[in-house]
Amino acid sequence: MKAKLILIILGYLIFISCKQQPVSIKSGEKWPDNNGVHINAHGGGIMFYEGIYYWFGEHKIEGKKGNKAWVGVHCYSSKNLVDWFDEGIALEVVKDDPNHDITEGCILERPKVIFNSKTKKFVMWFHLELKSMGYDAARSGVAIADKVTGPYKFLKSFRPNAGIWPKNVLGLHKQPVSGNVEKKYCGGKGCLPSHPDSLNLLGRDFITGQMARDQNLFVDDDGKAYHIYSSEENSTLHISQLSDDYLSDAGNYVRVFSDRYMEAPAMFKHNNKYYIIASDCTGWEPNAARLACAPNIFGPWEELGNPCVGEGAELTFRSQSTFVLQIPGKKDAFVFMGDRWTPENAIDGRYIWLPIQFDENGIPFLKWIDEWYLDFFENI
Ligand code: DGJ
Repeated sequence: MKAKLILIILGYLIFISCKQQPVSIKSGEKWPDNNGVHINAHGGGIMFYEGIYYWFGEHKIEGKKGNKAWVGVHCYSSKNLVDWFDEGIALEVVKDDPNHDITEGCILERPKVIFNSKTKKFVMWFHLELKSMGYDAARSGVAIADKVTGPYKFLKSFRPNAGIWPKNVLGLHKQPVSGNVEKKYCGGKGCLPSHPDSLNLLGRDFITGQMARDQNLFVDDDGKAYHIYSSEENSTLHISQLSDDYLSDAGNYVRVFSDRYMEAPAMFKHNNKYYIIASDCTGWEPNAARLACAPNIFGPWEELGNPCVGEGAELTFRSQSTFVLQIPGKKDAFVFMGDRWTPENAIDGRYIWLPIQFDENGIPFLKWIDEWYLDFFENI
């Protein structure tokens, strides 16, 4: 009888420990993957494909050196956004050709992947800085794969929209470019031009293509995809439609938030309005996020201030935006994804994920939550 009781208790204990624990998101902590290793996918984004989430991001290594690309773009998969399986390196940097665009030691940031349903290809875009050029190259890189987890094949890198004026080009941009465009001012934004519009950076880069640093991709309901990038020495964002195969810019773009130095743009659409959450331009240091809204993707865009509220709001809870994920099948369920950078030891960067909430006027806002469960969205 006693032995039977012990067996029942043991069985119950095993049942309890095997039963799936509710999964929670604790921003800022170490996030172990299936091997117990902190997830290494910084400046990343998530693509949902055939019932599985795929997270792509910068693989960093230890120390300051880790801010450059020595490995490539890391991919993880998950069915619940909490338990992540290491899928390995989706795009590898090149180790045996020092002249290759993505040779090891280049800077490869903010990779994003989208699926093209016409070509059935997975397309990755990223911000590329050629080796030993600091942040001067300001290029976009494109890679392609047949399988979501890769391997991705590097196709090309370039500065977008060479020889093409934006839809909202100003008369001043078409004026002859004066010598002062090279002049740098070391002010609040580091050594960046202080009055980009008067310096006509767009005109300066018209022939060679526009600078493209922090970047993201957005696929609209009609399947058209857009490339959003910090341009003109980071002073101005460009929103640029992609070609049907998603491999190039289509030559249809606008300049937005001129002179506002927006970085880290993350776009989403809610109730037929387009939103961008972005940051100010302060290197690896956090700053106050910015929210903007538009009825059409090409504008007019209106800034709505800092979407963060409560303690930590003025520094985006010590993070910088990288992506907004819409939970598939749920109209109002969006997750803000940010990076808490640790440039002294790049590999230790943390992830700040918060549910986007909407106020009584439908305006998105972000509030710190120590620990939240995915059933946060249950009633949405
Ligand atoms: C801020 C950007 O958002 C990051 O992606 C990175 O480029 C750092 N600047 C480098 O200082």
